[in-house]
Amino acid sequence: MNVKQPDYGNWVPLKIIYVLGILSIIMICISIVGFGKFSFLMNLPVYILWILQILALAITLIVVAFLIYMLISRYLFSYNGGAVSSKILDYVLGHLQWDGSGKLLDIGCGSGAMTIKAAKKYQRAKFVGIDYWGIEWDYGEAQCRRNASLERVDDRIDFMRGDAAALPFEDEYFDAAVSNFVFHEVKSQKDKRLVVKEALRVVKKGGAFAFHDLFLDKNLYGDIDEFVEELKKENVSEIAVIKSEDEINIPRILKLPFMLGSIALIYGKK
Ligand SMILES: C[S@@+](CC[C@H](N)C(=O)[O-])C[C@H]1O[C@@H](n2cnc3c(N)ncnc32)[C@H](O)[C@@H]1O
Repeated sequence: MNVKQPDYGNWVPLKIIYVLGILSIIMICISIVGFGKFSFLMNLPVYILWILQILALAITLIVVAFLIYMLISRYLFSYNGGAVSSKILDYVLGHLQWDGSGKLLDIGCGSGAMTIKAAKKYQRAKFVGIDYWGIEWDYGEAQCRRNASLERVDDRIDFMRGDAAALPFEDEYFDAAVSNFVFHEVKSQKDKRLVVKEALRVVKKGGAFAFHDLFLDKNLYGDIDEFVEELKKENVSEIAVIKSEDEINIPRILKLPFMLGSIALIYGKK
């Protein structure tokens, strides 16, 4: 019997694997053939050909190593492999101080994974998942709807297209909001602090929020403690920040700076 399973995709999209795979093949071919065989380079001194050959080998090693790293990361994140993504989303929802009455917004919902987890956890509530579903990711609105239907929570979730930097909701529309690894991706707003404030704008006074992102990356958010103080003064009544990679038990290989090295959770009540 062919039982349909939800498809939550992967934080390492297949297109990255394909691009790195094709690059690896090209570089391996160039390294094996050698520069001496290219007639248009024949007039160059031998030492230049050697330098080009060594350079090609070095680039090949880097590209192949990166491909292997991305393949391992994809496996670790995947729902049928290491399930790190699922663990991270459970962690975010686990810190949401919400009793499950009213409605929750998942900002940058991707494949609907966290929206659907939330709908299964809070059985009385309604949910909205919003995303702009750009070409960088293998995610889409139809995929979210299919996943919600397979998980039998589609009657309580609405998925819609929209921009996290300008949410199409009035102030204080939601009782709770969550977001995972989205704010740093938002191209339509340079200042990522403003994307966080936009998310808080749509949460009711006393409502709950849990946002997970690369909050420890100073280039994106400046000093996180200063940012949290600023939010405390202007936007929220309770807020805490946790360096989450220490708590979630993420494999070390995923903690490199360009992967999950600067993640943190900010959560509390507005
Ligand atoms: C790393 S994925 C995370 C997806 C999902 N939150 C999860 O944890 O599985 C980043 C998501 O942010 C979305 N995104 C990026 N920029 C956005 C924007 N300006 N507005 C809404 N969503 C955005 C992408 O489409 C993608 O689905």
